[in-house]
Amino acid sequence: MEFIVAIDGPAGSGKSTIAKLLSDELGFVYLDTGAMYRAISLKVIQNKIDLSNLDEIENMLKNTILDIKDKNIILDKKDVSDEIRGREVSNFVSKVATVKLIREEMVRMQREISKGKRVILDGRDIGTVVFPNANLKIFLNATALERAKRRLLDYKKQGIGIEIETVLEEIKKRDKMDTERENSPLVKALDAIEIDTTDRKIEHIKNEILGLINKMI
Ligand code: C5P
Repeated sequence: MEFIVAIDGPAGSGKSTIAKLLSDELGFVYLDTGAMYRAISLKVIQNKIDLSNLDEIENMLKNTILDIKDKNIILDKKDVSDEIRGREVSNFVSKVATVKLIREEMVRMQREISKGKRVILDGRDIGTVVFPNANLKIFLNATALERAKRRLLDYKKQGIGIEIETVLEEIKKRDKMDTERENSPLVKALDAIEIDTTDRKIEHIKNEILGLINKMI
């Protein structure tokens, strides 16, 4: 029977780490919707798509095969899982995510992939737009500095040297774009449970959410 867990929140709030742990433990499908927007952004960059040209966008979407295989993101038959985590995509994706046509296609795919399954989706608009009737809605948050520190660690692992101030600035800029955009802005759903992950262990938060899910299934 279909069971939808929506995990929304800003960049670096711990969504994907926690969603992955939960899905492994529960045997649920995990859908990283941010990765979908990132993959489309990569295509926009590579093909120099003009985001103000609706025909160009429509044509690009029609000719795109986006395949989410477990934790791997396959764009037009090429594994782009690492490429989409770089700074170029990270700093451009929020602009791409403002485009209504692109959002509509992503939401359609997310609903199709999830149909009839037990799924944990993480993103920005899962509990508000994609699945307003999700079985459980979680909104994760943390201070901007804490989130920047986490991103800095991610970048370090990728061998990218960068100052914390720059990461903080980039995160704040992305927050602003995501929360102030016209289409599906990042906002806590009224019925979402908000959890602040600053100074808390991932394991504890995972167990807290696991407890909520186990009570429901
Ligand atoms: O989750 P992640 O940081 O990888 O998401 C990248 C970007 O994709 C976000 O900053 C946001 O602009 C966009 N996004 C979105 N809606 C989602 C998931 C991601 O607009 N459901």
